[in-house]
Amino acid sequence: QTSMRECGSAFAPSNIALCKYWGKRDAALNLPVNSSLSISLGDLGTRTEIRPSDADAVYLNGEPVALDDAFAVRTLAFLDLFRSEFGNASFVVRTENNIPTAAGLASSASGFAALVLALADLGGWGLGGRMLSMLARLGSGSASRSLFEGFVQWYMGTCPDGSDSFAEPVSKPWPEFRIGILELSSARKPVGSRDGMNRTVETSELYKNWPAQATADLETIRGALFARDFQTLGKTAERNALSMHATMMAAWPPLIYLQPETIEQIHKVQRVRADGLEVYLTIDAGPNIKLLFLEDNEQAVASAFPGLQTINPFG
Ligand code: PMV
Repeated sequence: QTSMRECGSAFAPSNIALCKYWGKRDAALNLPVNSSLSISLGDLGTRTEIRPSDADAVYLNGEPVALDDAFAVRTLAFLDLFRSEFGNASFVVRTENNIPTAAGLASSASGFAALVLALADLGGWGLGGRMLSMLARLGSGSASRSLFEGFVQWYMGTCPDGSDSFAEPVSKPWPEFRIGILELSSARKPVGSRDGMNRTVETSELYKNWPAQATADLETIRGALFARDFQTLGKTAERNALSMHATMMAAWPPLIYLQPETIEQIHKVQRVRADGLEVYLTIDAGPNIKLLFLEDNEQAVASAFPGLQTINPFG
């Protein structure tokens, strides 16, 4: 029950999956086909402020957003779920991303997580992490993982009502872990993750193997996390991401998020690895590459990949 304050505000980190979420078993509740595991990006993410008002208004990075813009439509549709908690209020929502929106990183994940936390702050809800994670999941699946720092697992759950499909932190911090962002193209995605997932699930023959592979990869990555076995983690995360892209490419019409620059850099990662540099990659539903490496190799990776933006998730 709600004891309303004047304004709610919160921050949530962006996250990158090492074992990807791809495919929904329930589109309305955002229930996934498989469990997934991610790393949160520390202080890179979304800060959101929300206050009740006479009329809805949405701001993104300080600029007003037209209410028929896709970003505003999605934000307001999500708020519809909660208006009754606040006496059917309208809201002014201010969202600030400190990670480039175009890079496909300030995605919906940190946005919906921050929005749920801001609502919880506004209403003084006092809900636990699991419940907040499930609420964020309703906005975007990967948002369920952005409630937490560090390594996070989203349990797919089995209940049809989604009451056991939430994320939780796993494993202790790994202070040497680094992520590099290779921003290759800021072109808008041709197909969003929702449509992309549906198309893959419905038409891709290769997708049939995805749930089993994701389950196995997740266990391997968890084991590697606990053992601090970076090589196994990196290898499994890279193969998991490229396998996800294989399922997409086998859909019809084919779903190809990789651009020529992406392919070029995939080959480069293989080359520098063959030369002895321990670096792995992962790719989401877009053309940009995220590199995975350890602190010891930070300089070497930065000089091999000019323009790399390095993130210390535990910094
Ligand atoms: O949460 P969504 O609907 O934006 O989907 C995220 C899908 C991937 O980024 C490709 C994978 C993941 O687990 O984050």
